[in-house]
Amino acid sequence: MKNQKHLFQLPSDIHYLNGAYMSPLLKSVEEVGIAALIQKRNPTNISPADFFSLAEVAKSNFGKLVNCPSTQVAIIPAASYGMATAIQNLPKDHGGHVLVVSDEFPSGYYTIEKWCRENGKNLKVIEVPKALENRGKIWNSKILSHINEDTCAVVMSSIHWTNGTLFQLKEIGEKCKANQALFIVDGTQSVGAMPIDVMDYQIDALVCAGYKWLMGPYSIGMAYYSASFNEGNPLEESWMNRSNAQNFSALTQYVDDYTPGAGRYNVGEFSNFTLLPMLNAAIVQILKWDPANIQAYCHQLSEPLIKFLKENGFWLEEEEFRAKHLFGVLLPVNIHQEKLLKKLQERKIFVSVRGKAIRVSFHLYNTEEDIQVLIDTLEEFVK
Ligand SMILES: Cc1ncc(COP(=O)(O)O)c(C=O)c1O
Repeated sequence: MKNQKHLFQLPSDIHYLNGAYMSPLLKSVEEVGIAALIQKRNPTNISPADFFSLAEVAKSNFGKLVNCPSTQVAIIPAASYGMATAIQNLPKDHGGHVLVVSDEFPSGYYTIEKWCRENGKNLKVIEVPKALENRGKIWNSKILSHINEDTCAVVMSSIHWTNGTLFQLKEIGEKCKANQALFIVDGTQSVGAMPIDVMDYQIDALVCAGYKWLMGPYSIGMAYYSASFNEGNPLEESWMNRSNAQNFSALTQYVDDYTPGAGRYNVGEFSNFTLLPMLNAAIVQILKWDPANIQAYCHQLSEPLIKFLKENGFWLEEEEFRAKHLFGVLLPVNIHQEKLLKKLQERKIFVSVRGKAIRVSFHLYNTEEDIQVLIDTLEEFVK
């Protein structure tokens, strides 16, 4: 896979290694957004059918990305909304505890912490191992060993959002199923940049904010809910999610039933005439690229950086347990984090600090030069 920088409009003088914070906008997505905005100059451009048709297309495209039917996909405004939908529908009569990993992203953490408190469940946090050696491997086996017949649900991110640790989703999903525990995954930091298969991994809910690796605009995302949620309780009662919604002249002939599958979980006004076309266009581009190719590109691109880091006393997760598009780097003790960050800022190298780690993230818009400038800057600090 070749570099795709030409499809973006990043300023030429910045080194953007921070897609985990927010993706840059594809030119094609920007064009779709502008056209969508202009469409509302004249409301006769928007027909009743338009309230539903693009949503179907977008759900189907997201379904292709994660391997599920479009009927099991819902359009959400934020990960917090998608997580709340799944969590409020967890079974109250199975299991005494819920498992999370340490330093989980707050949108999921606050929701499950509150649900556990209100429903008399014990929230067990599987802490990251203190020792750095084989950390990813040990962390994964700790998670797996805690899933048992008393587990109500496992609620976690697909990769760790601060350091890119890969979680063994297939094995965790398998163990959840064997113990009748639900498996709720926040895919925001990997879906779009890394392959995922909700069927193969036996995931019950996969929630994704759209503005990072799905490369969409802010305030719209997608979620998959397995059939086990099909009779659940939505957060709100939008008219658009009822079975008669497409018949605009009969909306007050109220009906009890929802649109099938996960249709009841769409956010109100899910047709979002500006943001939805943009998110859909972004997913179409991702499907063309293929997330496996994005991982391979990022892996190859970051190789010289990884070599440098290993040779110079930095710590990063072992390759087997490290996402290729995003990882956290711990600095050697002699490097002053603040000074380094200042220098990176001066050189317009954009990264994030999450916890104790400097988080670097890559995509097809990054070049060998971006990597080299980062290496050169780090080199000045290890001397
Ligand atoms: C793992 C993860 N989930 C979700 C989000 C965003 O959450 P929300 O859409 O609730 O703002 C982020 C943002 O950094 C994230 O890293």
